[in-house]
Amino acid sequence: MRRAIQPNNTLIVDGPASVELISGKAEVFGCPFNELQRTVVREGKRMPFFASEPSVFDVVLGAGATMHEIEGNTVPETWNRPIQIVLGVEKKPLVILILGTSDSGKSSFCTYMLNKMIAAKRRVAILDGDLGQSDIGPCATVGYAIATKPIVELYDLRYQNGYFIGVTSPPTAVAKTLEGLTTIMNEATQRQADVIIINTDGFVSGIDAIRYKLSLIKELKPNMVVGVQINDELATLMSYLGGGGVLTVPSSPALSQRSTEKRRILREMTYAKYLRKSKLQCYPLSQVSVEPRGAVPKNQDPEKGVLIGLYGWGNRFLGIGVLRAINTERRTLKVQTAITTTPHRLIIGKVLLNRKLQEIQG
Ligand SMILES: Nc1ncnc2c1ncn2[C@@H]1O[C@H](COP(=O)(O)OP(=O)(O)O)[C@@H](O)[C@H]1O
Ligand SMILES: [Mg+2]
Repeated sequence: MRRAIQPNNTLIVDGPASVELISGKAEVFGCPFNELQRTVVREGKRMPFFASEPSVFDVVLGAGATMHEIEGNTVPETWNRPIQIVLGVEKKPLVILILGTSDSGKSSFCTYMLNKMIAAKRRVAILDGDLGQSDIGPCATVGYAIATKPIVELYDLRYQNGYFIGVTSPPTAVAKTLEGLTTIMNEATQRQADVIIINTDGFVSGIDAIRYKLSLIKELKPNMVVGVQINDELATLMSYLGGGGVLTVPSSPALSQRSTEKRRILREMTYAKYLRKSKLQCYPLSQVSVEPRGAVPKNQDPEKGVLIGLYGWGNRFLGIGVLRAINTERRTLKVQTAITTTPHRLIIGKVLLNRKLQEIQG
């Protein structure tokens, strides 16, 4: 379906949809969107196409998808402030940590900042610390990517390396997430990035969340902390930070909040992405170590597969798999995975996936 958009207005598309720019000039979170360029808007995601010139789009809407035109740009002008500050600092690498509740626009802000950094010829590393709604790598892991060109969403970046956490709910894995982010931060720092952007999870309220975020800041030592805030939900957390390098920006008025169901669908999409072309591999227990100790279940229902992390030599994270069967006599594990390298260590997580890779409750 063709849709003409006035200059300086935004076409908002709620996926699942596919959008192509037929004529004109547009951008998505600061990423140039050129004529004949097409992008997919995933289910549960909203993408804003800001038309800097009169533009015509060809939009294919999937089931339940919608679109509408909004006056102006949905990226708040104030999002440019932290970007201007970062571009004015010589120090390398400059580390920026993003805070915000669920669905406040953290990933969108990261995307916008990343695109502006790329436009200013900066080399960017981005760490994804949001295990419940991962953009980079599968959910239940933290990971990082290096960006060399502008992107419409972080999901398009190539996963460089990660760390398996095994759960998707941040409060249940605070220590592990801290360890994971510190580990990948050390690696990302070696990659000669000018700017390192760290996205975090939406666990920001209550004493446990505040303690966790303060530990994260202490460990990762960001030069700047940017809070993306809908109302004043970050007030308590930010009051502990104070001082220089701490900034709050408002969420976009065009924010779209996701239902629990949509959040689950988005998580399942990440498992499917990293289990594409997966096969059943058989690992003898004599050749792999399994963690945590005693975590190998006695029997394994293939319909209730357990998400696992596969590691190679030297702590190299290979990727994810799903434990589907156990042969106690032969002492072997059957694991559905796309990884073809032989793992040396398996870490058993807590997420359960059926054969369609849908999450199921224990
Ligand atoms: N500036 C914006 N313009 C249009 N849509 C936005 C904007 N900021 C966020 N959104 C939409 O709101 C939803 C939630 O934002 P997201 O960045 O995914 O939040 P978070 O990472 O904090 O969970 C997304 O679908 C996103 O596309
Ligand atoms: Mg996000």
